[in-house]
Amino acid sequence: MTEPVVAVRNDVLIARMTEHDLLEVVEIEESSGLSRWGWAAYYAELQGRHRNFMFVARIRNPEQRRGASALAGYIVARMGADELHINNVAVRDEYRRQGLGQELLGRILEQGRLLGTPVAFLELRAGNSAALALYEKCGFGVTARRKNYYSDPVEDALVMTVNLVGSLDPIR
Ligand SMILES: CC(C)(COP(=O)(O)OP(=O)(O)OC[C@H]1O[C@@H](n2cnc3c(N)ncnc32)[C@H](O)[C@@H]1OP(=O)(O)O)[C@@H](O)C(=O)NCCC(=O)NCCS
Repeated sequence: MTEPVVAVRNDVLIARMTEHDLLEVVEIEESSGLSRWGWAAYYAELQGRHRNFMFVARIRNPEQRRGASALAGYIVARMGADELHINNVAVRDEYRRQGLGQELLGRILEQGRLLGTPVAFLELRAGNSAALALYEKCGFGVTARRKNYYSDPVEDALVMTVNLVGSLDPIR
């Protein structure tokens, strides 16, 4: 399979996730406060068809930057019967507010769109204002609230949805 690589900036590329990325992916997951998947779950995901919906923001020539990481962030999603479920997206603290979250999300939505998937959805903690703002900027709208959906700490979930076919307006 050809590696779809998109140059986001001079120093960062969006590329498919591989097994070699997983230690850093898990490190980013842990430091970003996401619900835990862990190495084995990402590894299992990479073995199946969902691997087409797993991308990283890869730092170019990290060896030239002493102590630098190889990844700035990542995103994973799953394709269902007729909807794309965005599971996790995270960007390292020092790379935030530089457009990478938007690039990663845009890449996944484009993949879904190319396959003719009508809808993408995700859940997030109701108090996650950074993620809410990112998703709204990418066209998602809130379609439901799930009371006490998350634990540790207990918090409501917002369900957000976006149309991938035709208009990019969120489903209301
Ligand atoms: C949410 C997250 C992935 C955003 O990544 P990012 O690379 O910083 O996002 P971007 O730079 O692409 O931001 C795009 C837009 O989203 C909005 N946004 C992102 N972070 C924001 C913040 N902290 N406060 C307000 N708006 C924010 C802004 O509209 C921003 O555009 P702007 O910078 O031109 O104003 C990142 O904050 C993160 O990793 N958080 C921890 C993990 C997490 O909560 N993931 C989501 C789980 S549902």
